[in-house]
Amino acid sequence: MWNDLKARAAQAAERKILDLFDADRAADFAVQTQHMRFDYAKTNIDAGTRDALLKLAEDAGVAARRDAMFAGEKVNETEGRAVLHTALRNLDGGSVHVDGTDVMPGVLETLDRMATYADEVRGGPITDVVNIGIGGSDLGPSMAVQALSPYHDGPRCHFVSNVDGAHIADVLEGLNAKTTLVIVASKTFTTIETMTNARTARAWMADHGGDPATQFAALSTAQDKTSDFGIPSSRVFGFEDWVGGRYSMWGPIGLSLMIAIGPDAFRAFLRGGQDMDRHFCAATGTENMPLMLALVGIWHRQVLGHATRAVLPYDQRLGQLPNYLQQLEMESNGKSVDMAGAPLPVESGPVVWGAPGTNGQHAFYQLIHQGTAVIPCEFLVACAGHEDELKHHHDLLVANCFAQSEALLRGRNLDEARAKVVDKFEGAELERQAAHRVFAGNRPSTTLIYPKLDPFTLGQIIALYEHRVFVEGVILGINSYDQWGVELGKELATALQPVIEGTATAHDKDGSTQALVAYLHANRD
Ligand code: F6P
Repeated sequence: MWNDLKARAAQAAERKILDLFDADRAADFAVQTQHMRFDYAKTNIDAGTRDALLKLAEDAGVAARRDAMFAGEKVNETEGRAVLHTALRNLDGGSVHVDGTDVMPGVLETLDRMATYADEVRGGPITDVVNIGIGGSDLGPSMAVQALSPYHDGPRCHFVSNVDGAHIADVLEGLNAKTTLVIVASKTFTTIETMTNARTARAWMADHGGDPATQFAALSTAQDKTSDFGIPSSRVFGFEDWVGGRYSMWGPIGLSLMIAIGPDAFRAFLRGGQDMDRHFCAATGTENMPLMLALVGIWHRQVLGHATRAVLPYDQRLGQLPNYLQQLEMESNGKSVDMAGAPLPVESGPVVWGAPGTNGQHAFYQLIHQGTAVIPCEFLVACAGHEDELKHHHDLLVANCFAQSEALLRGRNLDEARAKVVDKFEGAELERQAAHRVFAGNRPSTTLIYPKLDPFTLGQIIALYEHRVFVEGVILGINSYDQWGVELGKELATALQPVIEGTATAHDKDGSTQALVAYLHANRD
């Protein structure tokens, strides 16, 4: 199938995306559900290519693998675990079994405990919540708290992730220790950054008149470790190893979000995710939004070879979505071997990056439009903002979003460029100036458009991307649910700590590292 697709890529190189447009393309190359629309008409995918991509997914067994995942089978084969973040949002679904046990009673009981606790915090003296976590224990809730700020009616939420003392120092600065709740969010409760920050926060609270015995909560799968840290079980919200860190914001790791927006709005977020799960399981072929989003991704990365993918939310409150998706996609699908340990025959997942529009337009879009690399762009935009009194801002925002995808599609040819400067220059100088104003165009983009960024819609968007990652992973034949690639750096950092502190030597390190250590020791005081 890959060879067929490569042949189609060669054909696609000979044509313009714009030339694919006929009266039906806009309707045909889009997926619309009751709640959002995904437009991929501005890509160089024609009907034949789409069929080939769908065949690729079929041959890879995406549907069977999806059913296995939802059924609690251990699809995370290298860690021997089920992958069931979907159970966390299975609010009114049926039972879900892992090793013969229905996990849903436990999931719903924890959700109720979270709600009771969140209401208690929201109704009490706490003014500020500090979530200490990193990676999946930070990026999801932090992104969502910003995304849903119009729905905040609880205490302020802050996030500390980096082990750089600057982070916790800046966040704690100005907080009242007597009215601050610290949430230690760590699936393993061993992550060195999080545990270092948690101990620093505990000391700060004790030193500033707060009570760590009552003002700390923990979110973890490791309840022995949370009790060793001194957090009573009544304020520990547990989850199971079948929830991957970067898929965990739907459960206890979302506690800060729940405290910010309240249990009802949090449940609406879960319902959005659940609704996308149902769509993903029921919709077939071109009607299936996560499937089509994934196939567009496969076309751009593995078939056409575009190394990166830009996520461009024209929605300021989705400012952290690119960071969030970086972990979701790159930690999941940045692997070089397949499930059996054999090298991948194609590239792994792309580099994911981006920033909100319109800001990015004034920063890096230059390269997207005129650089030599093609960067597939994924635009996101709401039909309406929350600021009714600022509707003209939103109109301008949407105009910019649509204009960018149009510009990428159309470009500007040399004649049009000449026409722009013909009044100012002539002869060779006219040609020189015109050349700088040419846009190649024919650059692919997709647009996800939704009515408004409310909790339900955010749940839909996040679940959509999760399933996209899943489908791409199945097609690549990799395990999207482990992350061995983060281990080596952790081990070496632990080994280097005494060297940095000066209690061990760097003699077994490479020359570069030895020289860096020497420079550090010579200059840090
Ligand atoms: O180092 C990577 C990682 O394991 C991520 O997968 C995870 O989200 C993050 O660290 C934090 O892990 P934990 O929640 O166990 O502290």
